[in-house]
Amino acid sequence: MTARRSTIGDVFSAGAQEFHRWSPALWDPVGAATADTAGLTPGESVLDACCGAGASALPAARTVGPRGRVDAVDLAGALLEIGERRAGEEGLDNLRFHRHEVSSWPGSGYDVVQCALGVFFFPDMDRDTTALTRMLRPGGRLVVTVWEKGSLGGWGAAFRAAVETERAWPDSPQSHQLARIDTPDTLASWLEHLGGTEPRVVQRRFDTP
Ligand SMILES: C[S@@+](CC[C@H](N)C(=O)[O-])C[C@H]1O[C@@H](n2cnc3c(N)ncnc32)[C@H](O)[C@@H]1O
Repeated sequence: MTARRSTIGDVFSAGAQEFHRWSPALWDPVGAATADTAGLTPGESVLDACCGAGASALPAARTVGPRGRVDAVDLAGALLEIGERRAGEEGLDNLRFHRHEVSSWPGSGYDVVQCALGVFFFPDMDRDTTALTRMLRPGGRLVVTVWEKGSLGGWGAAFRAAVETERAWPDSPQSHQLARIDTPDTLASWLEHLGGTEPRVVQRRFDTP
């Protein structure tokens, strides 16, 4: 019998508790760096694409404050529930979580669209990230965080092997899409290709066991 092929949202939802156990060591520091790089100011509106459990959406909501707002969008319902709980614990009323495929999200006019560790999961990274850029106001900022080449060591293969003990890996072009944008030069060129002006690449290094 062949295992049921899952969607990317199914995989992240099924592993939500395990995923969230890594939040303090992995997702939250990367999310904080993403929101920091966005240069957010109080009152701004933010779309957090592929928000997971809120690693970058929570710091964004803290910074934009009660006059600002953050729409956090993901396909994985169980991660969204964790994000909602975390926002509630902090009383962040300006942060809303939505279950939706993000490239067809109906919002528009955002000051910032940020996407931490998400674009390479899209079925078509160029098409779907271009869709995100259309949700910005004129002059708005797109912030994309990706893994730098070599930074994951053998983690990606180990993760995939763990998923495949339970289910078939979703059809996703993620490895070859990430390989197109995993150096400062290729990431900057890609952002320019999407229509970005003045692309800026910031490298952050941290070690996690
Ligand atoms: C590696 S996780 C990163 C989550 C979060 N940004 C973080 O850094 O902790 C990738 C996330 O992208 C979401 N995702 C992938 N494709 C998506 C899509 N087309 N629409 C919405 N969410 C998507 C997955 O469900 C998953 O939660």
